[in-house]
Amino acid sequence: MQNAELPITYGRIADLPADPLIRLRAQYEAHGDLSVFQDGHRQYVFAFGPEHNKRILSDPDTFHSCFFVTRGSKRSAQRRLSSGLLSMNGAEHRLHRRRVMEPFKPQAFAGYVEPISRMIGDLLDGWTPGETRDLQDEMVRFMLRTTSSILFGFDQPDRTERIGQMTHDWVELSHEVGASAFGFDDVGYEDYDRLLALAGELEHEIADLLRMRRESQGDGHDVLSILVRLHDEDGALSEAELIGHTALLFAAAHLTTSHTLTWTLLLLAQHPEVASALCAEIDDVLGDRPGRLDDLGQLPLLDRVVKESMRVLPASAYVQRLSTRPVEFGPFSLPQGTVFVFSQFITHHMHELYEEPERFLPDRWLSINPTPYTYLPFGAGPRMCIGGPLALVIVKLTIPAILQRFRLEVVPDAAINAAVVATMLAPTGAVPMRVNNRSAPFRTNPTSGNIHELVEFSPAAVV
Ligand code: HEM
Repeated sequence: MQNAELPITYGRIADLPADPLIRLRAQYEAHGDLSVFQDGHRQYVFAFGPEHNKRILSDPDTFHSCFFVTRGSKRSAQRRLSSGLLSMNGAEHRLHRRRVMEPFKPQAFAGYVEPISRMIGDLLDGWTPGETRDLQDEMVRFMLRTTSSILFGFDQPDRTERIGQMTHDWVELSHEVGASAFGFDDVGYEDYDRLLALAGELEHEIADLLRMRRESQGDGHDVLSILVRLHDEDGALSEAELIGHTALLFAAAHLTTSHTLTWTLLLLAQHPEVASALCAEIDDVLGDRPGRLDDLGQLPLLDRVVKESMRVLPASAYVQRLSTRPVEFGPFSLPQGTVFVFSQFITHHMHELYEEPERFLPDRWLSINPTPYTYLPFGAGPRMCIGGPLALVIVKLTIPAILQRFRLEVVPDAAINAAVVATMLAPTGAVPMRVNNRSAPFRTNPTSGNIHELVEFSPAAVV
């Protein structure tokens, strides 16, 4: 069939809604699971659901990762910073993935529990019953410190926050400038210049971290020490690769995990019956003591809660790929260089895959067992997230620790809004929570904001 006979939408991609989530949903609602948007000579494929996810994700040689579209010139800081795994493809990607994977294997986790527990303790010691906290801000700061401690082996909150903010701005701007190269956005030269300047500053900070690691000369088990040894002793990583991996790991770890924590705690606060059952499970298994790695298998409801939270509000909302050769995809014949967009959010909200997809129902996991391409909060296939198991350990140690000490209640009438920023589904403002004593009941409160377009909160009011 010729493409001309197919329902292809023509237009300017930059005229589509700015929020990718609205854009993806509109595309799915209007055209179903496979559609093409044509802007001039450029074609964009929107492919949703398990079959298309599988086709794209299991063939990384045809569908290249292109997260950092703007790489900068060969010797620029932007090029070095964007040299992590997400910019690598083919044999180079396979080789580096094996190297970077080492500290993320489950056998390395025992060494991470102490810093995670310490950070949780520090976080909760700062909370007092009766006060109101912005959960989003709390979780971002907590994850900045936890990520620094696990990845870099240091805990200097001021420095961590500075690097975290710079990393966040750099990823966001890289993404905006990159999206404009694909036509998704209109940004000017001044944004490109700003990106290069920011990359220079961030690289300076990261080089300083590397210097500190080298000077400490320990046989540290943090991720950075392992990567530095690969560079210094084995020559397995170039300086640019070392900088690129470090920047990406920091960027990939802290916001995705902090958004997952915020969404899960919000969902628990607005589903008192689930929160109360989870507390009973935690009381039974842990009592008042801190959780350990070997407890995690004994907390099945916690597992279902986290799975369901990452289904309904996945921190990674969509991903794009670039085809390296002409491709027949469904009825479409597409040239090399076509942009393919797939979405965890759309897949996780398909009615034919999940009953009442907008509801947060952890117990659905008692009777479903989706394939890796039907449920994919961490992606799937050979590029699946290398930090997923670690992120789950952090989330599953943090949530029980909070529930052992406090009850979180959304401030009545708070506006909770979300948007996709640099592919991540993030709260776009404060998520104000009242911190109550653990003897307080769980209480749902009325809220406004676009969160209600993404998830349905429980009708139960107090448990
Ligand atoms: C809840 C937290 C997290 C979520 C939702 C998440 C999600 C994802 C997803 C969807 C991908 C695949 C992207 C693609 O297909 O192109 C990915 C890749 C990646 N993630 Fe995560 N991630 C999380 C936490 C982490 C952590 C804690 C780390 C590291 C400490 C990490 C490091 C990476 C890296 C390095 C890649 C690139 C893998 C490759 O290209 O081979 N992530 N992540």
